[in-house]
Amino acid sequence: MTTATVPRGIGDALTDLPVGHFIGGHWTDDPTLQPVENPATGEMIAAVADADAGTGMAALNAAVAAQESWAATHPRARADLLMRAFDLLHERADRIATLITLEMGKPYAEARGEVAYGAEFLRWFAEEGVRGGGDYFRAPAGDQRIVVTRQPVGPVYAITPWNFPLAMATRKIAPALAAGCTVVLKPAPQTPLTALEFMRVLADAGLPAGVVNCVTTSNAAEVSTPIITDPRLRKLTFTGSTVVGRLLLAQASRRVLRTSMELGGNAPFVVLESADLDKAVAGAVLAKMRNTGQACVSANRFLVHESLAADFGDRLAAELSRLPVGDGLAPSTRVGPLIDSAAVDRVEGLVRDAAERGAQVRTCAEIGSGPGYFVAPAVLTGVDPESRVWREEIFGPIAPIRTFADTEQALAAANDSEAGLVGYVYGENLGETMRFAEGLQTGMCGVNTGIISEVAAPFGGVKASGLGREGGSAGLDEYLEVKYIGVAL
Ligand code: SIN
Repeated sequence: MTTATVPRGIGDALTDLPVGHFIGGHWTDDPTLQPVENPATGEMIAAVADADAGTGMAALNAAVAAQESWAATHPRARADLLMRAFDLLHERADRIATLITLEMGKPYAEARGEVAYGAEFLRWFAEEGVRGGGDYFRAPAGDQRIVVTRQPVGPVYAITPWNFPLAMATRKIAPALAAGCTVVLKPAPQTPLTALEFMRVLADAGLPAGVVNCVTTSNAAEVSTPIITDPRLRKLTFTGSTVVGRLLLAQASRRVLRTSMELGGNAPFVVLESADLDKAVAGAVLAKMRNTGQACVSANRFLVHESLAADFGDRLAAELSRLPVGDGLAPSTRVGPLIDSAAVDRVEGLVRDAAERGAQVRTCAEIGSGPGYFVAPAVLTGVDPESRVWREEIFGPIAPIRTFADTEQALAAANDSEAGLVGYVYGENLGETMRFAEGLQTGMCGVNTGIISEVAAPFGGVKASGLGREGGSAGLDEYLEVKYIGVAL
């Protein structure tokens, strides 16, 4: 195995990182490497293998070769393996969380939270995978018995994002394995280390060779296109931007390939007149600041009843000002960097555009001129609805606020987006608040809560936010084909 050392003196645990591809149960030894950067410092922390199209195909070959025997493996044996991986993730939580913080930037406490969240998908789908299911009944005409069974879809290509480098991988791989599917994983180029470390966890848990394979690459299109267009691939699952999702769907449509797409959001966070302001401000901090705003479920547009708006804006700005910004490895840090310099340029551009259209910008932290990709949290009021910050997914710690006078107007404004992943609504009038939640054109809604991520719940969007669900029992269905067998009796 090619290994590398993180040159930062942050502990022996990080001295033997796997940096090759994981194919057919083996680590490759590659001459072509790509750098991995720490967004808090801009330093290179490791170099990992950089796949070309041939390496991607080798990974698919391995997944195809393992498919039949993995599908034939007893569900209980598959579940036991997932549970061993769950235990190992917890044993190695410190090391894996450190890696997440190093390559992605989120504060260490949040990274520990991600390890726990990511591990739960292994446990949940170990439990779901042994529940079988199916049906047997008599056809209405009485001439046939109808047997309905479910079979694994077949080899899966999973493309995961950098913002939750462990949890987005386990959310796809755990149900695929539980269902009896083999996998090729392509993690985001910014965060390959966590994915490779997770491969080591799966290997140590006893996963047979070829059942999960991982290729890291800086050239996604060169690697992905031949895999997606190969007739042996049976499923594509992607979490990432709507722009890339559309391109992948176009490729997949040519093969009528099964897909799950978890794409971008533009979440409204609505504070109704009946809201408890303490709860709403606390929820807003969580919904906005988790992962420094770099989540598809981040609150993107704050819509606040005009009677509460001034107070809400003041209190939100005060809360954001209390959150220390810095390197996620420092124990006091609550707000980490953005992922790279392009993200900083983009978010700063959104704030500039809003200010040029008349918004007042309240900056809530001093960002020095040191290294790292930091953006100061800010609250924006008087935001023009045509501003980019209102129309686009921000992916940063910026909270734009608009006011409304009546609830119908707020619902129309909340639904005025092509995205439909999640919304949040705060209100103490149960009837009005629940009617609002039901009226939101989103796949998910938080009522009086700013965090809804939960392994037992079906996560996913409507409209341009995607297709399919992850987590819950629906998450397993995504990797199973329903088959009907008619028996003449
Ligand atoms: C995401 O941002 O795509 C995932 C967030 C979550 O699972 O909570």
